[in-house]
Amino acid sequence: MTAQIRDMTKADTGRVGEILYESFNSVASKYGYAQKMKRAEAGESWAWALLHHGSNELLIAEVDKRIAGICCLNPRGNLGGVGPVAVDPSFQGHGVGVQMMRALLKRAENLQSLRLVQEAFNPASFYFYYTFDFLPVENMLDLLLDKDVEQRTDLCANVSEMTAQDLEAVNGYDTPRSKSDRRADLAYYVKWGKVFVYRGKSEIRGYLVSLPGAETVQLGPLLTEGEQEARCLFQHAIAVYKNRRCQTRIMARNNVLVKSLIELGFKIYCLDTLMVRGPWRPGNYLEALGIFPEGV
Ligand SMILES: CC(C)(COP(=O)(O)OP(=O)(O)OC[C@H]1O[C@@H](n2cnc3c(N)ncnc32)[C@H](O)[C@@H]1OP(=O)(O)O)[C@@H](O)C(=O)NCCC(=O)NCCS
Repeated sequence: MTAQIRDMTKADTGRVGEILYESFNSVASKYGYAQKMKRAEAGESWAWALLHHGSNELLIAEVDKRIAGICCLNPRGNLGGVGPVAVDPSFQGHGVGVQMMRALLKRAENLQSLRLVQEAFNPASFYFYYTFDFLPVENMLDLLLDKDVEQRTDLCANVSEMTAQDLEAVNGYDTPRSKSDRRADLAYYVKWGKVFVYRGKSEIRGYLVSLPGAETVQLGPLLTEGEQEARCLFQHAIAVYKNRRCQTRIMARNNVLVKSLIELGFKIYCLDTLMVRGPWRPGNYLEALGIFPEGV
């Protein structure tokens, strides 16, 4: 099946939303996992967010003038985030995904490394990314906090909300630790969500991003010096968004933080794998990743 690859426009948002909703939900159902998006509007709100982020490269695959797939590259300095990558279930298995990825890798030629996160129950995409030289480098846990769970509502005194004036300071904290340039992401998060900053004796010791979507509040990226700061940031965010459904993805090796999140009411949805193409590797800081635009 030959696909024409082009850039996404605003007019594609509805159809791209359908593809995101259908492709991710169908793979979850196939392996017996709960559907993360309950209503089609969640797919459309995701497509809208991808487009409004601004610094993303969004590629559309068309077959006979019908949109069959979408993929996204988010360049951040030398490190690019890949995802979502999705093909309409009725077009899958005919080479559309491969053609989209080749076009995306061409756009990523100047980036040293690329990373993406994918759910461990998804063998088709594992194979798919292996063939493009992505390697698993880290186990992650995908966690969900349901809105019906009794949630703690105490705010943390060391946490404040970032404003546009704090952008340089938070970016200055993030860049050497994450080894990526997320300035454009941080500006987007401040505009459309909230960035919680943990300070100890007026020094930044961590931050957590929250982005409300149609159904779920995305918590991440997170980057902190330690578990205590991370726990405070999550607790604060949950108190701010009380009775909203929340999702996050944290490094599975941070067992103290995993236990803290379970205590706060989060349930494990599945194991995820962080896959990298190129030399970049995660550091020793505590990190969480969002679904978007962390891409990843
Ligand atoms: C992953 C995805 C984008 C691939 O798109 P696609 O158009 O179906 O992919 P293609 O047809 O181009 O190629 C798929 C390859 O995977 C192989 N494959 C499919 N299922 C497989 C499995 N269970 N094990 C091993 N290989 C598998 C196919 O044989 C094909 O390889 P080949 O070209 O060597 O024969 C698509 O399946 C999708 O949208 N899935 C749902 C969303 C998703 O999981 N996205 C990825 C995570 S961000």
